[in-house]
Amino acid sequence: MSISIKNQSEIDKMRIAGKLAAEVLEMIVPHVVPGVTTDELDQICHNYIVNDQQAIPAPLNYRGFPKSICTSINQTICHGIPSDKKLKKGDIINIDITVIKDEYHGDTSKMFCVGAVSPHAQRLINITQESLFKAIEIVKPGTTLGDIGHVIQKYAESNRYSVVREFCGHGIGKQFHEDPHVMHFGKAGEGEVLQAGMIFTIEPMLNIGKRHMKVLKDGWTAVTKDRSLSAQWEHTILVTPTGHEVLTLRQEEM
Ligand code: MF3
Ligand code: CO
Ligand code: CO
Repeated sequence: MSISIKNQSEIDKMRIAGKLAAEVLEMIVPHVVPGVTTDELDQICHNYIVNDQQAIPAPLNYRGFPKSICTSINQTICHGIPSDKKLKKGDIINIDITVIKDEYHGDTSKMFCVGAVSPHAQRLINITQESLFKAIEIVKPGTTLGDIGHVIQKYAESNRYSVVREFCGHGIGKQFHEDPHVMHFGKAGEGEVLQAGMIFTIEPMLNIGKRHMKVLKDGWTAVTKDRSLSAQWEHTILVTPTGHEVLTLRQEEM
């Protein structure tokens, strides 16, 4: 139970892995349209990661996960399994990409709208993304994990959303999930103190309704108990001596 501090050569590899994961999300944009199945999205991403990037899709066979990406639609919170189900106009979907390149992991996800979506879905998506960036903004040496959770919880709840508690961000490196657990709720000043060289994800999941979830019989798909919409955004972040560097930033965010 200790948080690793990455050295320069590890950071260089994490930067590459992060960039590749971000590029998968950029590549898939034109494919996320009404009528496409999540299996087709999985196959396109898998082929791109393996053939173009010469990298490895980390989810495939991870603890028995059967596909190369996670696709979480509407009331699915996270860990949705690609299937032959077609996307339809008005759906919101999170696509979560994790690649391994040169033994190191990059992990990132974003929300996509399928055609036009309802204003309440769009608002959930926006507030969730803003909660991630409010947390990223405070990442620097001396900030605590509790500070990160607090910023997200405060922003979510002040906008009348709930924060899912069962899943959290995580340290990342040679392992997909390393210490620490990065909670998306908490108290300012509590928890581990950040130090330069730490790398972890922040990946808040916000629900329109109550925070509670259940896992479907497939053992993976986490959905809201009350079937309300859920959204998630994720980045992999390096703590630098003066602040932070988002390793999975996309062009649209620069
Ligand atoms: N990418 C997810 C995360 O952000 C983990 C997915 S585990 C899987 O931590 F097995 F479902 F792929
Ligand atoms: Co993650
Ligand atoms: Co992820």
